[in-house]
Amino acid sequence: MSDLPTFVQGLPKAELHLHIEGSLEPELMFELARRNRLDLPFRSVEEVRAAYAFGNLQDFLDIYYQGAGVLRTEEDFKDLALAYFRRVAADGCRHVELFFDPQTHTDRGIPFAVVADGLLAGMAEAETSLGVGSGLILCYLRHLDEDAAFATLRMAEPYLDRILGVGLDSSEVGHPPSKFARVFRASRERGLKLVAHAGEEGPPEYVWEALDVLGVDRIDHGNRALEDPKLVERLVADGMTLTVCPLSNLKLCVVDDLAEHPLKRMLGLGLKATLNSDDPAYFGGYLGRNWIATADALGLTKAELVTLAKNSFTGSFLPPETVQARLAEIDAYASSSAYSQ
Ligand code: HPA
Ligand code: ZN
Repeated sequence: MSDLPTFVQGLPKAELHLHIEGSLEPELMFELARRNRLDLPFRSVEEVRAAYAFGNLQDFLDIYYQGAGVLRTEEDFKDLALAYFRRVAADGCRHVELFFDPQTHTDRGIPFAVVADGLLAGMAEAETSLGVGSGLILCYLRHLDEDAAFATLRMAEPYLDRILGVGLDSSEVGHPPSKFARVFRASRERGLKLVAHAGEEGPPEYVWEALDVLGVDRIDHGNRALEDPKLVERLVADGMTLTVCPLSNLKLCVVDDLAEHPLKRMLGLGLKATLNSDDPAYFGGYLGRNWIATADALGLTKAELVTLAKNSFTGSFLPPETVQARLAEIDAYASSSAYSQ
């Protein structure tokens, strides 16, 4: 008999919603502060962890942007990425499409190239030494204006052959997707994939806008889409992938209890949901922990776990032949596993 953690660990899976700055563990935060001769407003790792109690998204973002201040050099960004990849390699993750927030760094004087070169170096090493492949998604910060997003796209120009797509993150309410219509169009014209956070705290209208105004390829979160049956119908008809983040939703009070999380309901409605960690250093768990805690709380069946694993590849931006190969591996693994639930 295989138990749930063993079954989940061996299941080939991808992570499609991960902010690399949100994988900064307090231990590395202190190490980088020491290396860069910076003062932190905390005296210990325990004190940092104790500060991670959030009432909503903005509470978290304030501390997340503050934490990112220790990232200064190419080596810092490479170390950050590698620390994350080591954790998810152990969870049986095979592919990651990771977000980064260049404006968080360029606005404090760190050149775009330092951020991108450091992350790309970490990603290359993770592929060779850990067997975890990855792609980068550049996120525009939605609390800033569209001109600032355009400036970021211009900075990214020399790197566009190494960037998969663009996304939209940060404070959602009051910053609808339509605010970024022109820069998303310009990004699409440059051959980039498009994703956007929508329906985490924002209303179903923001999800409609992400679909109809931005023309996104994926919706990040999408929880509040469930409030609008017509929107659910549309998402199902489009086969639109939702990158759902249960432990994040719990920590940011999007749900009160993991047992009430809508993931199982989403699958039942025919929505193409995936399971992801969002900001694992802040929300209490990496990819594996999200899978196990959610499966436990919702009683996900083996068939549902297999669907989630398949969705993580069919919802990815990997080439079709790689997706097919991973689907075949998932089927082979599931039929050979003694796990039954
Ligand atoms: N939501 C919006 N913006 C973010 C998040 C999130 O969960 N994490 C990092 N930036
Ligand atoms: Zn997110």
